[in-house]
Amino acid sequence: MKPRIAPSILAADFANLERDITLVERAGAQLLHVDVMDGHFVPNLTIGPPVVRAVRRVTSLPLDVHLMVSDPEAMIDDFLDAGADYLSVHYEASRHLDLMLTKIRSRGVRAGVVLNPHTPVGVLDEILRKSDFVLLMSVNPGFGGQEFISTSFEKVRKLRDLIRSQDIQVEIEIDGGIDLSNVADAVQAGVDIVVAGTAVFGTKDPAVSFRQMQDTASRAAI
Ligand code: DX5
Ligand code: ZN
Repeated sequence: MKPRIAPSILAADFANLERDITLVERAGAQLLHVDVMDGHFVPNLTIGPPVVRAVRRVTSLPLDVHLMVSDPEAMIDDFLDAGADYLSVHYEASRHLDLMLTKIRSRGVRAGVVLNPHTPVGVLDEILRKSDFVLLMSVNPGFGGQEFISTSFEKVRKLRDLIRSQDIQVEIEIDGGIDLSNVADAVQAGVDIVVAGTAVFGTKDPAVSFRQMQDTASRAAI
């Protein structure tokens, strides 16, 4: 499948979310990344189910909801009801990962596991079959605009090898510090979904920036 850039609304103008989302939707985006932070799992507080519901009403783009919360088990129902199409939970915050992934899939939503930069991909060995995608953090979660952690592509390659060794279909997503300078490397390492916040919404013309990122990613995949 062609790699997709998923613009992250964390870097959009929260007072003009509909306007910013429409910009990237018209520019050809196929997925929208939504960062949920609870001020506890990560030192920042963003949005909850009401905002996801509101976003759901103003776009037909699939919503890729990234839960950075301490107790995802208590919250996944609310985000499934709010309209998530992709829903990912952090490995580090989960007690019953198998149960959550099964539940997410049972609702027809794509289920994902997120790994912090320090968490090795080997922990996914037993759970990979229950996952539709794995999101590798390439910054420490909590804020947009941080510097890319340079060892992250090596981790992407390890994950790609693990997926191949199990002969299954699992998408690889990367999140944090990706811009025009490293998006091609991400795709070449094996990334299917590239989250981009600052590199899209932090620029003067998000539509143009999105297209540049998407074109660069698509070319790198050939
Ligand atoms: C960080 C979030 C990211 C963030 C990425 O914790 O999970 O999705 O929006 O922002 P950039 O692309 O600016 O690094
Ligand atoms: Zn994210």
